[in-house]
Amino acid sequence: MPEETQVSSPAQCKQGKVDREDRRTVGESTSENPRMTCRNVNVYYGEKHAIHDVSLDIGRNEVIAMIGPSGCGKSTFLRCLNRMNDTIEGCRVTGEISIDGENIYHNSVDVVGLRAQVGMVFQKPNPFPKSIFDNVAYGPKIHGLVETRSEMEDLVETSLRKAGLWEEVKDRLQQPGTGLSGGQQQRLCIARTIAVNPEVILMDEPCSALDPIATAIIEDLIDELRQQFSIAIVTHSMQQASRVSQRTAYFHLGDLIEIGPTTQIFTSPLHQLTEDYITGRFG
Ligand SMILES: Nc1ncnc2c1ncn2[C@@H]1O[C@H](COP(=O)(O)OP(=O)(O)OP(=O)(O)O)[C@@H](O)[C@H]1O
Ligand SMILES: [Mg+2]
Repeated sequence: MPEETQVSSPAQCKQGKVDREDRRTVGESTSENPRMTCRNVNVYYGEKHAIHDVSLDIGRNEVIAMIGPSGCGKSTFLRCLNRMNDTIEGCRVTGEISIDGENIYHNSVDVVGLRAQVGMVFQKPNPFPKSIFDNVAYGPKIHGLVETRSEMEDLVETSLRKAGLWEEVKDRLQQPGTGLSGGQQQRLCIARTIAVNPEVILMDEPCSALDPIATAIIEDLIDELRQQFSIAIVTHSMQQASRVSQRTAYFHLGDLIEIGPTTQIFTSPLHQLTEDYITGRFG
């Protein structure tokens, strides 16, 4: 039987926090209005058990931050949400992950369609070796989202506007995407993700290669995108997690240790391991 994800009487340590040895999740892992639900998710790389029985919801119109020391499984967990782990040989995922009530691991699911519905933005901006226009147009084209050239032009413009990049690139749409600055490339990748009309956007350390100005632009953008999408963001910056997210999940060695409102996680965490991390005693 999987362990309960809610702890009724967690072991307390001296400081009144849940004891370091207690690895059951503390905090509210469910959402009143979930877009995605994850229940008892385990991930194995061959023999290695990388994610242990993690349950959480991603709410509509929320940004959920995933934090924790290097190697704790943040990227592994994020990749479960659009089946990117399927591409890693020897990787096995168990448990149930649903979007709008549909199990994304069901045999009948079209994985290409799923990855449009649950888009991903990576740490290093990775534009295609194509023009700025074609970077954004590629997805809608292969998914057959538009019929005419003028519909495509509208969709490219709208996506670039939503990504906050239109004004900077409108006069150079035919130039290569790789010729943009790092921060512009990351916004181009966000525009490319938005263009296929996703419901959820996964971001794995999207600002770690960017300077503070480009980072601030992306963070503002994340806040705007929340009006339309659900966003799960992995970040090593606790300042960034507190600026952009409404809920935060703290992972430690493959366990989801604590989850709750971001302000509570950073001001009064319930678990000693969370406290250790946010006060710089770990990682
Ligand atoms: N392709 C893989 N094959 C085998 N083990 C892997 C693979 N990818 C990750 N792991 C292992 O799974 C665990 C979790 O890794 P993961 O990359 O998810 O951590 P992370 O929290 O994203 O770390 P970081 O903050 O450094 O990016 C680690 O022990 C890692 O070595
Ligand atoms: Mg990672």
